[in-house]
Amino acid sequence: MSKTRKIAVIVGSLRKESFSRKLAKAIAAVAPENLSFDFIDIGQLQNFDQDLEPAPPAEWTAFRDRVKAADAVLFVTPEYNRGLPGVLKNAIDVGSRPYGSSVWNGKPAAVVSNSPGAGGGFGAYHQLRQSLVFLNMPTVNQPETYIGGVAAMFDEHGALTNDSTRQYLTGFAQTFADVIERNLG
Ligand SMILES: Cc1cc2nc3c(=O)[nH]c(=O)nc-3n(C[C@H](O)[C@H](O)[C@H](O)COP(=O)(O)O)c2cc1C
Repeated sequence: MSKTRKIAVIVGSLRKESFSRKLAKAIAAVAPENLSFDFIDIGQLQNFDQDLEPAPPAEWTAFRDRVKAADAVLFVTPEYNRGLPGVLKNAIDVGSRPYGSSVWNGKPAAVVSNSPGAGGGFGAYHQLRQSLVFLNMPTVNQPETYIGGVAAMFDEHGALTNDSTRQYLTGFAQTFADVIERNLG
C-alpha cells in the first residue's frame, strides 16, 4: 500500500466557472487513492512586493504554510496571451520568498494546461515549466499535457463527460503518483 500523499492544487484562473478548476477536480476524482487534494486559492494574495517581506501579509503566510504542508503540487492553468496568467505567476513568486525559504523547493509537481482552443495552452505550460526548473521541482515530463477543446468536455454541473479525456487523466494521475514516489519514497 502506497503512503498517503497530500497534493496542493494551484489553479491559474479565478473565474467561477473555470475549465481549469473543473479539470483539476476531474484529475482528483480519478487519481490513485493514496493521493489527497488540497485546493488552495490564490486570488487573495497581494501582489508580490519585496518591501512587504519584513512583515508579510497574513494571506502570504497562510498560503506559504499551506503549500509547505503538502507533499507535492499540481498546477492546472489556462494560457493568457501565450503565457502564464499573472495571478499564477504572483502565487509562484510569493511562495518562492523569502530567499532560501521557498515553499516549492524539492516538491514533486505536475502541470496541466488547457484551452477552449486547439493549442491547449502550450505557451503557458512551458513558461510555467521554466519557473519550476529554477524552483527545483521534479516535474512530470511525460506525458506533456495540453488539453485543447476543453469547453466541450463538461456538463452543466461541471462533471467531465469526455471518456477518452477521463482515461487520459487517469494515466496522467498515476504517472504523477509514480514521480512523487520516485522523489519522496
Ligand atoms: C486575458 C486573456 C488572454 C487569453 N489568451 C489566450 C491564449 O493566449 N491562448 C488561448 O488558448 N486562450 C486564451 N484565452 C482564452 C482562455 O483560454 C479562456 O478564456 C479560458 O476559458 C480561460 O481558462 P479558465 O476557463 O480556466 O478560466 C485568453 C483569455 C483571457 C481572459
